Order: sequence, then C-alpha cells, then structure tokens
Amino acid sequence: MTHARPSSESRLTAAFSNTEPSRPPIWLMRQAGRYLPEYRQVRAQAGSFLNLCYNPKLATEVAMQPIRRFDLDASILFSDILVVPHGLGQDVRFEEGVGPLLTPIGSAKDYAGFDISKMLDKLSPVYETVDRMRTELPKDISLIGFTGAPWTVATYMLEGRSTREFMTAKTWAYARQEEFAPLIDLLIEAISAHLLAQVKAGADVLQIFDTWAGIFDDWGFENWVEKPIAAVIRKVKALHPHIPILVFTRNAGVRFDGLAARLGADGLSLDCMVPLDWARDVMQPQTLIQGNLDPIVLRIGGEGMERSLSRILTALRGGRYIFNLGHGILPQTPPEHVEQLVSFVRNYPE
Ligand code: CP3
Repeated sequence: MTHARPSSESRLTAAFSNTEPSRPPIWLMRQAGRYLPEYRQVRAQAGSFLNLCYNPKLATEVAMQPIRRFDLDASILFSDILVVPHGLGQDVRFEEGVGPLLTPIGSAKDYAGFDISKMLDKLSPVYETVDRMRTELPKDISLIGFTGAPWTVATYMLEGRSTREFMTAKTWAYARQEEFAPLIDLLIEAISAHLLAQVKAGADVLQIFDTWAGIFDDWGFENWVEKPIAAVIRKVKALHPHIPILVFTRNAGVRFDGLAARLGADGLSLDCMVPLDWARDVMQPQTLIQGNLDPIVLRIGGEGMERSLSRILTALRGGRYIFNLGHGILPQTPPEHVEQLVSFVRNYPE
C-alpha cells in the first residue's frame, strides 16, 4: 500500500530529500494552544480539554488558527498524547493549573482489559479531525499526525501525572520488567494502530514525541526508548514505506549520534541543549534535523531572539533542516513574538 495522499508540492516534505535548501520550512511544536486568545475562546466553549480533542469541528478550528495568523509550512493535528491511554480504557482528565491526571496503573491486571479495537472506535473523532484538516488545508501545507512514544505515554499511565522523579515508572522499567515489557508491547501495538489510522485519514508526515527519553541511563534508553520506537516505525513503514517520520527524543544527548538509523526515522527533532556545530557536523550528514530554539527565548522575543535565530540559521540552514523550537511554545508567549520569529526565518538573507 502506498501513501494515500502524497503532497509532493509541500515545502516540508521536500526538506527530507533537499540537499541544497535555501529557505528552511518552518512549523512550531504546540503552535496551537493557550498563547492564542482565539484558542482560549474555543477551549472555553468546548468545556474541557478532552472535549476539545474529541470535537472534530472545534479541534480543526484550533489547529487552523496558527495557520491563519502565521506563514507556517505545516499544521499539526490538534489532540494529545494521552488520548491513547484514554482510548484504551484508562481514566484520564486534565485539571486546570495541574495538567493531566490519570488513575495510575498499579499492576498488570489494571491494563489486562485494554483493547486496541475499542481504542480505535473511541478515537474516531480524532481521525475525523485529520480528515477535516486535510480538506481545509491548502495542498502545500503539510498535515503532521502525531503520537507519544511508548515510554513517555507509559510514564503518565504509571505515575498518573507529570513528575520530576519518575520513581514509579523507573521502578517498573528496571525492576518490574515482567509487567513493564507487556505494557510497552501493548503500547507499541496501540501507538502504531493510532498512527496508521491518522495516515489513512490524511496525515502527510508523522512525529513521535518522547519527551521523557532523556531521563534514562544507556541501558534504559536502548531498551525502553529506542527499541519500542523502532518497533512502531517498522509497523507504520510496513504499510506506508514513504511516509516521513520525525522523532523527538528530548535530551538524548550523545545518543542522538546514529539514532535516526537505529530507529528507522526520517528526521530528528533536537532539543535546545544540542550544540549547533555538532548538529551540523555530526547530525546533518546522518539525517534531517529539526529545532532547536529555546521556547523561553521565543517568549523573550526582540533582538535577543533574533541573535539566537541567526546563530541557528547560520549553522543549520546548509543541510537538511526544518526550523522549529527545542520544545513546545509556552502559554505566556506573546503571539507577536511568533509573528516576529516566522518573518525573521522567512526573510533571513541567503
Ligand atoms: O499544537 C500542537 O502541538 C498540537 C497539539 C499537542 C498538544 N499536546 C495539545 C495540548 C501536542 C503535539 C501535544 C503533545 C504532548 N502532550 C506532549 C509531548 C510534547 C511535549 O510538550 O513535551 C506531552 C508530554 C503531552 C501531555 C500533556 N498535555 C501535558 C503534560 C499537558 C499539561 C501541560 C500543559 O501544557 O497544559 C497537556 C495539555 C495540553 N496538550 C494542552 C494543549 C493545547 C493545554 C490544555 C488546555 O488547553 O487546557
């Protein structure tokens, strides 16, 4: 089977093969969200964040908002990484000022009843959002589908919320593998099915978010970050060999070296800590990279931001490159700073 709706005209998909890019394509992680007043309005109308994620009309609307305001090359599906555990049957809610709250999985019996075909039914509004977005978006703007990686999704399923220590998730990863490995296997299946459903609905590019990849030692990274992501990518590429897949393994450090090949990925999203010279000399010959402006610098804006942008563009523009942040836009970011950033990247002299 081949990719259903290739968008060969898109600047974003061209960047994967382009060896002489003059102007990098640009999109921003978390480009839809609370920093936009028009988002906050629709979000209030939806009632809860999950209601918004499961309302194709409103989810499409908020995904389109940054596209209307800014000259971006891609639109990312409006959803969340935690719709997967929610779809599988875990209790998930989002509390104002707190973030996600899940009823944590305490043992293997808590996930024994999780069912992927039920998940796909429950997540059908998400796939309908992809379909609506693809219809509304101009052809040359790519539609990015996404998912969390097995490890990052598992941390929320086990901890029940955002955490700094990862005590429970790491206990499972290092000391309760007879229960942890089957959970990761289940997530590999669920996440692959979720991505395949998005491609079927019209996604042109995929991104896998492993926000908490950087908290492991090398054994943990190899077994619980790399192997599960590689398995997901194999499953997706078995049906759609040509769909570009980007991976965001935040704070992977020296493990970025050789990572795209180990994962079978088409590109890597680099966090803010990755040195630019190293990104150019070591990473770009290996794969396409995306990144890596500090979102705080975007929040600061002004000339400080422009100096950071110059450093990034000077270093990375010569190779395979998509402009992005090193992590998502912060809610306190003035939208005018995003406007300033996009126009600076667009008009940077050749
Ligand atoms: O514009 C986009 O990037 C598309 C949508 C998107 C959201 N979350 C919407 C969202 C994407 C790609 C995500 C990914 C996501 N979700 C990640 C991985 C990337 C990253 O930022 O590290 C993670 C770890 C999550 C889990 C999650 N969702 C948390 C921890 C939170 C609470 C923190 C916060 O920012 O509020 C969310 C909520 C969330 N996801 C919001 C949005 C717009 C805010 C919810 C609201 O409007 O009340």
